[in-house]
Amino acid sequence: MIRRIHHVGIVVERLTTAYRFYRDVLGLPLVREATVPEQGVKAALLAAGDAEIELLEPLAADNSIGRFLAKRGEGLHHLCFDTEDVAAELARQKARGVELIDQAPRAGLAGRIAFLHPRACAGVLVELATPPEGDSHTAPSPVRLKRLVIGTADPKGMAAVFHSLFGLEEVAMNDGPRKMLGVGRSAILIVPADEVGGTDGMVALSLVAEDFAALTAACDHAGAKCLRGTGEITIEPESSHGVHLHISRYFFP
Ligand code: CO
Repeated sequence: MIRRIHHVGIVVERLTTAYRFYRDVLGLPLVREATVPEQGVKAALLAAGDAEIELLEPLAADNSIGRFLAKRGEGLHHLCFDTEDVAAELARQKARGVELIDQAPRAGLAGRIAFLHPRACAGVLVELATPPEGDSHTAPSPVRLKRLVIGTADPKGMAAVFHSLFGLEEVAMNDGPRKMLGVGRSAILIVPADEVGGTDGMVALSLVAEDFAALTAACDHAGAKCLRGTGEITIEPESSHGVHLHISRYFFP
């Protein structure tokens, strides 16, 4: 049973530099930071409403995160779902023949965690996590995650995979090639790759700002490159560590 998006993982060159944008400009509160040697990273979780943002700095150039950084640059890396019982969830997936990276849960920044293989999840690297007992995920944050946007050649097929593996239900949308899946208070928006410059995989985050004027002022003050629309700004990846960020004034459920 998937309860919500626990976090979206972003690979960055240095945590300290990434804090300047994610913590200081966006205002996301730092929840936890730790070195996780078995994953080869120094990692941090920052609160973003119902979900969190995980920043990952490789400890070495030749581990998997270091190689990702060298090959793809900074940017979205994985998606983590919160589940009540990661061991049971992993066993259930294993019994169905789902390809796993971790055969058993291990300790991670988010609690007990395990990764499924991207081949099993329509090309997306998916982590499952059971946070420690009593771990609150309601830290107030001025900016909240609303949607994770994923590009694919086959939105219908990807939505079917995510429904089958994780029970995510489609949220009513106008007919069209896009698919929206609800998860907790956020959603996954699956769009045809040709709508997002041919990108296959996680491509953007949509966020909502409590105080939009303060947020745009902070972006200006920091010199972040962004495009402005009415009630929405889009921050260019070069200013947000490789992630397209759409930040809006209002929440449209
Ligand atoms: Co993670």
